[in-house]
Amino acid sequence: MKRLFIFAALMIMCISCNRNTTLVAYFSATGTTKAVAEKIAAASQAELYEITPEEAYTDADLNWRDSLSRSSVEMADPTSRPAIKGGIKNIDRYETVYIGFPIWWYTAPTIINTFIEQNNLLGKNVKFFATSGSSDIDGAYKAFKKQYPQINWSGAALLNDSSAENIKSFISKGYVVGGAYGIKVLSDTVEDGVRTISAQTCSDVCSEQIIVSVKDGIVLKAEIVGGCPGNTVGVTQLVKGMNVDEAVERMEGIPCGGKKTSCPDQLSKVLRLFL
Ligand SMILES: Cc1cc2nc3c(=O)[nH]c(=O)nc-3n(C[C@H](O)[C@H](O)[C@H](O)COP(=O)(O)O)c2cc1C
Repeated sequence: MKRLFIFAALMIMCISCNRNTTLVAYFSATGTTKAVAEKIAAASQAELYEITPEEAYTDADLNWRDSLSRSSVEMADPTSRPAIKGGIKNIDRYETVYIGFPIWWYTAPTIINTFIEQNNLLGKNVKFFATSGSSDIDGAYKAFKKQYPQINWSGAALLNDSSAENIKSFISKGYVVGGAYGIKVLSDTVEDGVRTISAQTCSDVCSEQIIVSVKDGIVLKAEIVGGCPGNTVGVTQLVKGMNVDEAVERMEGIPCGGKKTSCPDQLSKVLRLFL
């Protein structure tokens, strides 16, 4: 009897240690994001879950040129929550959840809101990825941070180029080396516990490059290359010693002139990579 009990206990332990703790959940209307999701799941030994709409999207539904199409109507309504067919049995067993989707109207389709609100993602590492015609993931990131600030958003990548190198970078670093949030990461190194990221800014701002060093969540050093010297030096002096979260919060979304971004906003995008 005792032997039987030990055998059963070992079996249970064995099953639970083999349990997958990573989930890749994705919505894909025309198959592009699905192909990327499959690559991420294969590379991270994760379970794959397709977010399937209760009512499938037809070609007419997806016509973004028609302001009355189903997708246009849903995306124009912030309360829209399209129903999902079926669901995940036990979300609690996943430590890391990747959420994938196509960019619709510069952000995530509202069925992703349904998924997030139906599943308790608190306390998990949640990373998202997207495919698009050309838009970046900044809109989705800002929307998620605003709508679900309590979720630990620990990575994001636009994976239009889902090369093995980009998939690997996304899984290990939480972003894609070539392009993240519209900036281009040039290098990412760690020395004596100090992580330094250098990135090329987007062409909308006067500065060209931003280099930031962070240790234990605190900005040690920041440098903005190019741009208005007085302002940029002032900003980098001010963020020194600041918590990364707070610095991002303060600078995110600052515009410059008629442009939607600025050197401080670009600095906040580099800082996001440390979150
Ligand atoms: C309703 C709708 C809205 C879209 N909006 C955007 C957009 O704002 N920016 C963009 O770059 N691509 C946009 N696209 C293109 C998709 O993001 C792109 O084709 C994506 O890779 C499709 O992924 P899927 O095959 O997984 O559905 C849109 C597509 C649809 C159907």
